[in-house]
Amino acid sequence: MLNIVLLGPPGAGKGTQAARLEKQRGMIQLSTGDMLRAAVAAGTPVGRKAKAIMERGELVSDAIVSALIGERLDEAVESGAIFDGFPRTGHQAEALELLLAQRGRKLDHVIELEVDEDELVRRITGRFSCASCGAPYHDDFKLPKVAGVCDICGSTEFKRRPDDNEETVRTRMAEYRAKTQPILPYYDARGLVRRVDGMASVDEVAAAIDAILDG
Ligand code: AP5
Ligand code: MG
Repeated sequence: MLNIVLLGPPGAGKGTQAARLEKQRGMIQLSTGDMLRAAVAAGTPVGRKAKAIMERGELVSDAIVSALIGERLDEAVESGAIFDGFPRTGHQAEALELLLAQRGRKLDHVIELEVDEDELVRRITGRFSCASCGAPYHDDFKLPKVAGVCDICGSTEFKRRPDDNEETVRTRMAEYRAKTQPILPYYDARGLVRRVDGMASVDEVAAAIDAILDG
């Protein structure tokens, strides 16, 4: 039972790879971004606090995201957990350590996806998804086979994330550099960090991650 962190800047492919690992290995994807978007959509107190912060591309408070992870962690006891977009600060890394230790668990790998910044902007600003089933698409890499119709469920409605515009993406990247990258030495010192070239194709990145998990 593996516990892994997928770390990387916005658009690095964390969600893409986590969804694949969930499907292929039965692991559980714990994405704080997805949890926060669900809270915003449902209009919960957490969602009301997070909405404007996310639209600016800044980080939501450590207490909120750590609580969200704590609520979901017990789902991933048997199968293992993929932490997608968490931790993002030193405090969150400490919170994760504690949450895992309380359950007799520990981190196996911190996988850093490395991608250059112009590629990230291109990936993110082109991204959209089916409003009904959530299937992911992209203006440059993956349009629906029939224009305007979801390949998976046939819906004709699509959506884009409100934080997927160039200005907000630049803020999200600055937040990553300022607050998230500095936690890498903490994990490096314990020999947990494995680096993967996130510029490679989705399948090549997947193969590199599989080699780490099976190694
Ligand atoms: P979050 O939802 O985590 O967003 P993010 O980190 O900015 O990352 P993304 O989800 O945009 O990218 P991704 O790495 O998942 O890439 P994807 O697979 O989609 O967070 C959103 C906001 O919530 C934050 O800004 C913050 O406000 C808040 N938040 C969340 N967690 C928080 C925390 N812990 N603490 C505080 N605040 C928090 O791929 C992107 C695109 O590229 C897709 O179109 C995909 O198809 C394509 N693609 C993927 N891989 C490849 C490839 N290898 N080659 C070509 N295209 C690819
Ligand atoms: Mg994501």
